[in-house]
Amino acid sequence: MDIYCGDLSAEFVGKRVTLNGWCRYVRDHGGKLFVDLADRKGVSQVVFEDSLLSQAKSLGREYVIRVTGLVKERDRETIDEKNPTGRFEVSAEKLIIINSADTPPFEITDEKDKFLAAEDLRLKYRYLDLRRTEMVNNIIFRDKITKIARKFFWDNNFLELETPTLVKDTYETGARPFIVPSRTKKGSFYSLPQSPQIYKQLIMIAGLDKYFQVARAFRDEDQREDRQPEFTQLDFEVSFKDENYVMSLIESLIARIFEEANIGDIKFPFKRMKYEEAITKYGSDKPDLRYSYEITDITETMKRSDYNTVKRVLESNGKVKAVSFPADYGKSGKITKDFMLEVIEIAKTNGLKGLTWLFIENGKLKSIPETIASSLSKVESELISSLNAKDGEVVVFAADLDEMLLLQTLGKIRKIIGDKIGKFNTRFSFLWVIDFPLFEIDSITKKLKPSHNPFTAPFTEDLALLEKEPEKVRGRQFDMVLNGNEVGGGAVRINNADMQLKILKMIGMPEEQAIDAFGFLINALRFGAPEDIGFAIGLDRFVTVLKEKQSIRDFILFPKTKSFDSPIDGSPTKIDEKRLLEDYKLKRSEE
Ligand code: AMO
Repeated sequence: MDIYCGDLSAEFVGKRVTLNGWCRYVRDHGGKLFVDLADRKGVSQVVFEDSLLSQAKSLGREYVIRVTGLVKERDRETIDEKNPTGRFEVSAEKLIIINSADTPPFEITDEKDKFLAAEDLRLKYRYLDLRRTEMVNNIIFRDKITKIARKFFWDNNFLELETPTLVKDTYETGARPFIVPSRTKKGSFYSLPQSPQIYKQLIMIAGLDKYFQVARAFRDEDQREDRQPEFTQLDFEVSFKDENYVMSLIESLIARIFEEANIGDIKFPFKRMKYEEAITKYGSDKPDLRYSYEITDITETMKRSDYNTVKRVLESNGKVKAVSFPADYGKSGKITKDFMLEVIEIAKTNGLKGLTWLFIENGKLKSIPETIASSLSKVESELISSLNAKDGEVVVFAADLDEMLLLQTLGKIRKIIGDKIGKFNTRFSFLWVIDFPLFEIDSITKKLKPSHNPFTAPFTEDLALLEKEPEKVRGRQFDMVLNGNEVGGGAVRINNADMQLKILKMIGMPEEQAIDAFGFLINALRFGAPEDIGFAIGLDRFVTVLKEKQSIRDFILFPKTKSFDSPIDGSPTKIDEKRLLEDYKLKRSEE
């Protein structure tokens, strides 16, 4: 009987089994040779002796073999309690060497301290890295979540449909796209979709009222730990429904995922928080609510202090904001003076002039140097009580003229210190962030830009503000946040051609350009567009957060590096000049 190496168990004792796998470790004990044979389900010990010994002695690391033998219980003293198959072994009767293997460039081991391979090497030899249990488990977990989601959408009467990968370039909005030259229409380009967005809207106009797709999306944007240029969305769109329907549908999906994948406990319904509140209290549109500390405005209090650094900013109408952390300062060792100096540097790289930190000892403010605390003596008790700060807590505050910068930087610091302290009220904290502004002001061009995408419907009650105070208009957009990560986003769409054109013009596109880029959508909106709402969960990011891990790359089979390289195949690669010119009429730019 063929079984996986990881399946070896008491039920097979005394039976003859066949295993196919890779020789992870080979130990030659003279009269006996032991092989730890591995496959995607685990590792089993195989013992070779007598007539098989000489053939087995040729085995090396990662050789691929097929073994048939009898399953036996191991002697008590040789049991490996750490391995689920460790009470049994296969006494080999037949060995077929399917293939030999070169010595791997790094040791394939599950022991963290022995696994030293740098990430570039892991990515170059990804097929070897993927043999490690941790990586196998990540990939299998991702498969499990994908399967549950697919089944969920099927069960809820959604059609699984595919949108095109070669699409029209609409660079003017959203992230920078990857472009693909056309050979048949020389000098013209397709672009790779940043998401199936417009096409799923067209699907709704077609009357196919419930669509979903496990869709690949491509964005040529700056890389961060939680981003990849090529990633996957659990994407869906539905007609004649509203935000409440979509949020409760996703909550049912999450409930099913948590139950079937046995992830942990969560509370339903998820909390909903307005964007405004998220920014004011947590300095982020994706606050991590596993810890409760909030940002407090201490401007009025600080006006009465003698702390000159801050007072100068206050004279020019700046603000002062503070957060207090239950850091166990001086006891737990996690939040040290050196760590706080690093935090100050982070504040500076984010654009603040500085950051002040203090700690509370015996109900009093303390600082290094002491002069800071003494300059606050007049407001000491007021500060401590407004921040509700207890002994051992670390208080940070900063002043700035730019309130948003101040909030966002304190938000980042809140996350850094919160993660470092690591005392969470709950393992998984889901949150809906709602009522986003429809537009943002671009920090460089100072022009309006969509805060989500230009297809989001404004709130009807805010329409009157559209002309005069567009920055106050709220968009019917909502994000799903998990432990401080944006794991999904969606919106009610504009389903009126004139409104769509108006919004495109408001974000700075002349009518001609708007029609040129989005005419195909605007036109379609004139042919009977239903009410339309949709959402996409970022699958790679979602599974990474569910597994409480940091690197999105560990959940993608063949990810790109931070500089967009693909070490597995060496892409991107140069293309022959002749081919560029003849097939695409393109010239390579100066290098
Ligand atoms: P959005 O741009 O918010 O919405 O994307 C949806 C979710 O995809 C994930 N995500 C990413 N994951 C990895 N790498 C990236 N570069 C990356 N960019 C985004 C995030 C995000 O929440 N069409 C809309 C959805 C809709 O309105 O229906 C869209 O793409 O988790």
